[in-house]
Amino acid sequence: MTDPQIKLDDIPVHVAIIMDGNGRWAKKRFLPRLEGHRQGAKAVRRVVEFCRRSGIRYLTLYAFSTENWNRPEGEVSGLMKLLSQFLDSELNDLHKNDIRFRTIGETNRLPDTLVEKIDAAKSRTENNKSMNLNIALSYGGRSEIVRACCKIAQAFREGQMTLDDVDEKYFSSMLDTAGIPDPDLLIRTGGDIRVSNFLLWQLAYSELYFTNVLWPDFDDDVFSAAIQDYKSRQRRFGMVPEIKNSPWDEE
Ligand code: FPP
Repeated sequence: MTDPQIKLDDIPVHVAIIMDGNGRWAKKRFLPRLEGHRQGAKAVRRVVEFCRRSGIRYLTLYAFSTENWNRPEGEVSGLMKLLSQFLDSELNDLHKNDIRFRTIGETNRLPDTLVEKIDAAKSRTENNKSMNLNIALSYGGRSEIVRACCKIAQAFREGQMTLDDVDEKYFSSMLDTAGIPDPDLLIRTGGDIRVSNFLLWQLAYSELYFTNVLWPDFDDDVFSAAIQDYKSRQRRFGMVPEIKNSPWDEE
């Protein structure tokens, strides 16, 4: 059952999810891989709703990686169609619920009609404040970092900044995620324990949660379990824990 006790103070501000296992979900049922993705899109709707209800302000979903372009043409075009259908069916609700829609990644590589839809969705929702839904499309963490370096080199060449301006804050502002806080929690479904080129810079201090559940089966109970696990962890950001009455405390 969904945990009704989740308190705003305890929950992560930003959850990022690697949605893995659609293909295996379909294979287990002797269905085409695209059916797995279709069910995966339903799980996307569920997690957005869960975040909205629990007060999670930012949700970033890895929907299509730079490597996914190498999948069979039919699967790639099927995924593009699903993304387009998702916007058609969900945009009104996203907007009604004050959710801002954004994308990260090389969206210029996507089909023109999808790019137009994405741009329209972004501008329609740009003033929404309650929640942020970020979809990673044609995204790769290394590519994002390289593109940030190119932007900095360009700004330097045009005399808009000096090398003294470059620090972590400045660098972050050149990433696709500029203005979005780093994820507090990364969830990966599907059983693999790796980050697969997702948010490489931004995950520096994120808590990681891996589950064997395949993405189409991801529901409120699994999400609640991940949040409970997150709440049980002590985040130190490289500092020492605050220990009350430790033997090293001065009298
Ligand atoms: C990974 O599973 C999943 C993807 C590459 C696509 C994710 C897409 C969706 C969840 C649907 C559409 C998204 C939105 C935002 C509406 P996999 O195919 O690699 O699974 P496998 O490892 O079992 O083969």
